[in-house]
Amino acid sequence: MTVTVRELASEEEWDDQFALVGATFGARVTAPEGATRDAIRDMADPRFALVAVDGDETIGGCAAHWMDLSLPGGASVPTTGLSGVGVRAGRGGRGAMRALLEEHLRRSVDAGAAASLLMASEAPLYGRFGYGVTVSVAAHRIDVDRAALAAPLDDEGHVDVYETADSARAAVIDLYEALRASNPGMTARNDGWWRVVLDERAHWKGPADPFVAIHRDADGRPDAYALYVFTNPGSELWRPMATLDVHEFVADSVEAEKALWQFLTRVPLTRELRWRMAPVEPRLRNLLADRRQLDTEMVSDMVWLRPLDIEALLSARTYERDGVAVFAIDDEAFPDQRGPWRLTVEGGRGRVERVDTADLTLAPEHVGMVVLGDSTVRGLASDGLVTATDGGAADSPSIAALSDLLATSVRPRSVSKF
Ligand SMILES: CC(C)(COP(=O)(O)OP(=O)(O)OC[C@H]1O[C@@H](n2cnc3c(N)ncnc32)[C@H](O)[C@@H]1OP(=O)(O)O)[C@@H](O)C(=O)NCCC(=O)NCCS
Repeated sequence: MTVTVRELASEEEWDDQFALVGATFGARVTAPEGATRDAIRDMADPRFALVAVDGDETIGGCAAHWMDLSLPGGASVPTTGLSGVGVRAGRGGRGAMRALLEEHLRRSVDAGAAASLLMASEAPLYGRFGYGVTVSVAAHRIDVDRAALAAPLDDEGHVDVYETADSARAAVIDLYEALRASNPGMTARNDGWWRVVLDERAHWKGPADPFVAIHRDADGRPDAYALYVFTNPGSELWRPMATLDVHEFVADSVEAEKALWQFLTRVPLTRELRWRMAPVEPRLRNLLADRRQLDTEMVSDMVWLRPLDIEALLSARTYERDGVAVFAIDDEAFPDQRGPWRLTVEGGRGRVERVDTADLTLAPEHVGMVVLGDSTVRGLASDGLVTATDGGAADSPSIAALSDLLATSVRPRSVSKF
């Protein structure tokens, strides 16, 4: 039998797919109902809801969001966010994932996406399809009694904590959108997505009933928010052993950031604070009286990017220096992406044109790693991943030229799980 891929055919099939894909991740799930179901349905784009079929058996599927991705400089490009890729246990190895991925990428190109993004369950899976790590994140923890700030704040503002997120919704969305505009790697959330993150009990990839803390400045203007969950495994021992698990932390200034951290590390009954999907080098470390107390427990890939329209990606982002670089992309799946390309940057804006030859050729996954500045071309070359015909990592003019143009001083970040 050969595996074929088609669009999801009916509402009932959506429920079956939810259970099927959930099971591939090891969870026995039934599809949610009511408002939660509607929110999850509205998050994704029906054009990308795909089902893999072998004979008359459904053996897998995937979904995707249609979402804007912020680039260096603040502009956005449309992308797809691939999600929920799963193939039924016992039906693996038949090429179902490959068939789903190929159809997803074809549809993404047809819809005008500049790239496809995803979060990978396993790192070895997606390089073969041209995805490379474009946002890295870290998980940090700190004992709250060792989390004093170097310069404690006499905060003229205040923090409001909301047990239900509804009344905080507008302020949270505004702050998220402001962060998105100034941070490459951030992705837009549609209304369904916000309902999944903030609605009561809606928790597919959301934090599930988080507390929302909003900091307001002296004039009452919201300038930072955190979504957190509080767990207290030691409560029966009459000890303050709670963990404050920060799912999202967004602040629009250093002062706001200090004020909200100061609040979060002083929540009664808390012993430790954990912060997942955080920047690899968070500002918090520089704010602490004792920087060593912030343990970085894990650094990991978060968002992977598969370039689909290199001209759109490179002409929409901005650059920190001017210059010219020439390169090709070794793209077997989408030959029109190969170039070779000349990137000319003048006044921080890029222009992309086709040329005849290039000394430097990158795989699509390596473009994904460097296009937002998470890795550098020079770094990949010195690790032996990228080679050029005009020299090595240290002395190739073509490697140096592209590396210098793409490098950014703002590291990409993301707080949206999909
Ligand atoms: C990962 C998963 C989707 C693979 O499905 P599948 O139908 O067996 O995959 P395919 O047969 O299409 O394999 C496609 C390619 O991926 C490779 N591959 C499959 N599973 C792999 C794994 N776990 N690690 C590394 N490579 C893997 C195959 O060797 C094949 O390589 P090739 O085409 O270059 O020769 C399936 O095992 C699964 O559902 N796992 C649990 C859920 C999950 O992790 N989903 C991914 C979410 S991001």
